[in-house]
Amino acid sequence: MSKIVDYDVAGYESFRQRARNTELSGNQKSGFPDDLRNGQSEIILADIDSKLPAFGRPGARVLDIGIGCSDLSRAIIARASERQQNLVVIDSPEVLAEIQDGPSITKIAGPFPDCLARGPIGPFDAVLSYSVLQYVFSEANLNNFIESALLLLDETSGALLLGDIPNSSMRKRFFESNAGRLHHAEHYPDRPPPNVRFNALEPRQIDDTVVLAILARARAAGFQAFVLPQGAQLPMANRREDILIKRP
Ligand SMILES: C[S@@+](CC[C@H](N)C(=O)[O-])C[C@H]1O[C@@H](n2cnc3c(N)ncnc32)[C@H](O)[C@@H]1O
Repeated sequence: MSKIVDYDVAGYESFRQRARNTELSGNQKSGFPDDLRNGQSEIILADIDSKLPAFGRPGARVLDIGIGCSDLSRAIIARASERQQNLVVIDSPEVLAEIQDGPSITKIAGPFPDCLARGPIGPFDAVLSYSVLQYVFSEANLNNFIESALLLLDETSGALLLGDIPNSSMRKRFFESNAGRLHHAEHYPDRPPPNVRFNALEPRQIDDTVVLAILARARAAGFQAFVLPQGAQLPMANRREDILIKRP
C-alpha cells in the first residue's frame, strides 16, 4: 500500500524536516506530489524562460531563492552547468544538501533575506523564486523579501520572477465557473463540490489584494511590474499565477 504524504507544509522549518525524511522523493520533500511534477521540469522551465529570458541565457548571473530539491531544482542546476551560468541558490542547509553541486554553483544556506547578512551577493540578470511566496506571506515579511530581491537586480537589465503563486481569489473564480465545475467533476468524481466562500477572512492565504498590492508597491518604487498567467499546460495554471518585476 502506498504511504500517505501530507502536502500541507507550513513553511521554511517544515521543509527542513521534510528534506531529512528519507522516505520522500525530491518532489515530495519540496511539497509536490510526484504525479504533479514528474516529467514537468522542461515544460515549467520553458514557461519561466518565456517570462524571464535571462534565466536560461548562457553565461547569465542567476539567483534562485528557495531552489528546493525537486526535479525542477535539479533541472535548473544541470542546465546552469551546461550553459556556464553563474548560479547562486538559496535554501535551508538540509534542502541544499539534497541537490547536486556544479562548477559555477554557489549555495547559500539560510532563509532569505536574513542569509544576506553573511556577505553581499549580486547583481543578477535574473532572480527566480518559484512556489515560495506563499510561505513567505504566511510566516515572514513579504515586502522585505521582495524588496531585498529587487535590490539584487542588475540596474539596467535585471528582472525578478515570483512564480507559481497560489491565489485563493483565482481559485474561487475557477471553481465557481462552468470550466471549474467540469474540471472538479472529471478529476474528483467522488468528492463533493469545493466549498467556495467569498467575503470571508482567509488567514495566511494570498489573494487578489496581495497580488495587486505587490504590483502597486513595485511600480511605486520605479519598477515595471506585471501579473502573468501560467502556460495552460502547467498543472496548477487554473489557480496559480506569476509576477514579473523588472527595471524599466
Ligand atoms: C514549495 S518548495 C519550491 C521549491 C522549488 N522552487 C520548486 O518549485 O520546485 C519551497 C522552497 O522554498 C524554501 N523557502 C521557504 N521560505 C524561504 C526563505 N525565506 N528563504 C529561502 N528559501 C525559502 C523552502 O525551504 C522550500 O525548499
